Amino acid sequence: MFKTIEWKNNQVVFLDQRQLPLEENLIETNDFRVIADAISALGLRGAPLIGVGAAYGIALGAQEALSGHRDQYFSFLESVDQTLRSTRPTAVNLFWALDRMKKIWKDAEMQGISPHDCTEKLLEEAIKIHNEDIQTNQSIAQKGSSLIQDKDAILTHCNAGALACSAWGTALGIVYWAALQEGKKLTVYADETRPLLQGARLTTFELLKNHIPVTLITDNMAGYLMARGQIHKIIVGADRIAVNGDTANKIGTYSLAVLASYHNIPFYVAAPLSTIDIHITSGEVIPIEERKPDEVFYFGEKRIAPQGIEVWNPAFDVTPHQLIRAIITEKGILYPPFVEKLTLLKQDE
Ligand code: MRU
Repeated sequence: MFKTIEWKNNQVVFLDQRQLPLEENLIETNDFRVIADAISALGLRGAPLIGVGAAYGIALGAQEALSGHRDQYFSFLESVDQTLRSTRPTAVNLFWALDRMKKIWKDAEMQGISPHDCTEKLLEEAIKIHNEDIQTNQSIAQKGSSLIQDKDAILTHCNAGALACSAWGTALGIVYWAALQEGKKLTVYADETRPLLQGARLTTFELLKNHIPVTLITDNMAGYLMARGQIHKIIVGADRIAVNGDTANKIGTYSLAVLASYHNIPFYVAAPLSTIDIHITSGEVIPIEERKPDEVFYFGEKRIAPQGIEVWNPAFDVTPHQLIRAIITEKGILYPPFVEKLTLLKQDE
């Protein structure tokens, strides 16, 4: 699997996903601003990886604060936290990781712990968040593969694979486990995922590297594929799950779920508990990121629409819980009704 991110020699090294699959560039940085820019511009993307990246961003910010004015250490951390928080609004893993980091530096401030010791604690916490994600990926993969039969054809959307996480991925982790650990013969269909093509660029790329057969389709082909009986299961990731199970994921996920319901195809969401937002009771209040119109006006470098028109570019949509057959977490597979199960799991976290 890919090393999407790593802490090495007091720096963060990450694979810049903007150039994939054409170029595999690693960026090495000791600057939290580079991490923040990469998160905003999808160089570091996918809900779990955004969380890990943000945690390391705080660790970098703490190192920088140490080399600056000691008396301003904690106010500098406050501004690093704010910068990272304002990168992307939908994936709750970002805020979950930043909250964990904030608890460390707020406690340190209250207890009079030195900036040096606080910086060490922050790095320990960031590495812990990273390692937990690796474990979580594996548990989701292993648990979810029990839902997969030999010769299944699975449709997925966007990229919820190794590139979106620290190890196996979530939705694609299940595919990897079923195929590579259990020897099931699978076919994967990947939606290209307009406008930023995470399916075409990233999902196909990582499946190919892992020798899993993959067929790329444009987003508008999914319905016909289902109508022809060529899809047995749909598995997607998630950016934020409300307590009732409503799920925000990459724009286009909702349409797939409606189509799946019409064709009676199981629609599964795979996500870690860090993606569940205990404070949000229904999908209606999940903040949905709207991105620049140019992402739709242009296909790559080439403008494809005339001047003088409007564009609407929401990056995510919300799939109502009624359309979700099960949510696959590291603690097990949850079937509806979700509300009590999700609440209990979050309380035990
Ligand atoms: O805009 P992106 O590429 O960050 O969107 C990613 C997704 O929508 C993924 O499906 C989601 O984050 C889950 S990743 C395991």
